[in-house]
Amino acid sequence: MITLKSPHEIDLMRRSGKITAAARALAGEMVKPGVTTQEINDAVERFIRKQGAVPSFLHYNGYPASACISVNDEIIHGIPSPKRVLQEGDIVSVDVGAYIGGFHGDCAATFPCGRISPEARRLIDVTRQSFFEGIRFAREGQRLQDISAAVQSYVEQNGFSVVREYVGHGVGARMHESPEIPNFGRPGHGPRLLRGMTLAVEPMVNAGSAAITQLSDGWTVKTADGKWAAHYENTILITDGEPEILTAPAI
Ligand code: MF3
Ligand code: CO
Repeated sequence: MITLKSPHEIDLMRRSGKITAAARALAGEMVKPGVTTQEINDAVERFIRKQGAVPSFLHYNGYPASACISVNDEIIHGIPSPKRVLQEGDIVSVDVGAYIGGFHGDCAATFPCGRISPEARRLIDVTRQSFFEGIRFAREGQRLQDISAAVQSYVEQNGFSVVREYVGHGVGARMHESPEIPNFGRPGHGPRLLRGMTLAVEPMVNAGSAAITQLSDGWTVKTADGKWAAHYENTILITDGEPEILTAPAI
């Protein structure tokens, strides 16, 4: 069952979305050589709590931190650590969620640490743009996999690959709601989109092959081939026209 949010619930999601997006921006500003992923996590958590919200990820299925911070060949769910010191040239994916007023926001982006290689820059840019290519189809009357197929085709046209094992999702009173939103699919397939749906669209893009490996920490997901990966996510609202990005401002 895909929940449709009422105008009042949408207002509440704008509030959680704004806080989540601001936490992402704060994290992005902290990405610099010499900073640890733990320091970024702690700043994100302090900021979310100062807004009166609660970090959505903390203790979710036993997850031990407030942000997921995934560096270079780590795709998603990297656990922040005081031992992980960022280096010039790294690319750093930060995924955050905030819960307030009964609703979650969920968003992510990959940030450059100092000067990065042109290929790393292109990976970040293609991943971000694939989200915007996808949400051109996030309109009432379209099918869900129209979004998925647009993300996939843009990524693959650019020589990269999409992760299959992890997907976007509905978001609202729960962080993970129906439907699943794969970053691959067939146009014209999947549920029909309706105004009031709130969706987390989140391309996870590998520079090399799509294959992944799971680290023994039980969380971190890496590329199997060791090539780098990027992530970009916003919570969006299906309207009677253009989709609205609830985790605004987008980065
Ligand atoms: N943003 C992630 C998602 O969309 C959630 C992180 S998983 C957690 O699924 F367990 F760390 F919360
Ligand atoms: Co998500």
